[in-house]
Amino acid sequence: MAEIRAFAVPKGSVAIWWLGQNGYIFKTPEGTLATTDMYLTNSCASVYANLGVDLSRRVPVLIPPEELDVDIFTCTHNHQDHTDPETIRGLRHKDTTHFVGPHPTCDVYRAEGIEGGRIVPAWPACEMELRDIHIRGTFALPTDDSDLNHMGFIFTFAGGPKVYVTGDTDFSELLFSAAKFRPDIVITCINGGFNNLSHFEASQVVAKIKPKAAIPCHYDMFPDNAVDPRQFQASLKLFAPETGYQEMKHGEPFVFTL
Ligand SMILES: [Fe+2]
Repeated sequence: MAEIRAFAVPKGSVAIWWLGQNGYIFKTPEGTLATTDMYLTNSCASVYANLGVDLSRRVPVLIPPEELDVDIFTCTHNHQDHTDPETIRGLRHKDTTHFVGPHPTCDVYRAEGIEGGRIVPAWPACEMELRDIHIRGTFALPTDDSDLNHMGFIFTFAGGPKVYVTGDTDFSELLFSAAKFRPDIVITCINGGFNNLSHFEASQVVAKIKPKAAIPCHYDMFPDNAVDPRQFQASLKLFAPETGYQEMKHGEPFVFTL
């Protein structure tokens, strides 16, 4: 966390760190820190353990919840690998943070003791400006009936780079509607498991949106929900050859400049 706080972000840029699954920290040139889908515990390990499905985490916790210190905390939906009650319970810097997400996620924020004034509900097509970050909610198609309020986000950092995070979503042509906001980067799930976009479907979405770069996610965390991102790289070559493939390494900064 200290490394991220100290990292200087050039003008017209955004710095991105991946903490695994759909968890990212974004930093603007002004120093604002925003996160999405922080999964910083091993709470999912027990979810399907009785069925013999292994969802124990295999990416180390790079920042423990009590050390996370950010300005804007967002979640795309209310599955535990995205809105993790244990992570939220463990946060120590609640008073300096806006907590953004769809209503079922807001219920978790409240249940875990986040002050009401810090909670900001979000939904597809909503727009908000928090510090120097503009957030637009995007459409996402639920992957099962355990949560029917999925969404994604397009973040615009200090009026510069735009990053579209799909969140978990089943395939729908409505995902192409994000194209009109012209995101520079698409961060997309590719795992195919549990009804998420497969690498092939994700490449179809990227082909319509035409970002400069596409970053695969949600393939790394759980032994029984993992795929090789090279499959996505190959699909991009076939269907979206003008978009650069950007694989991230956990905990290492990637700086994107317009
Ligand atoms: Fe997920």
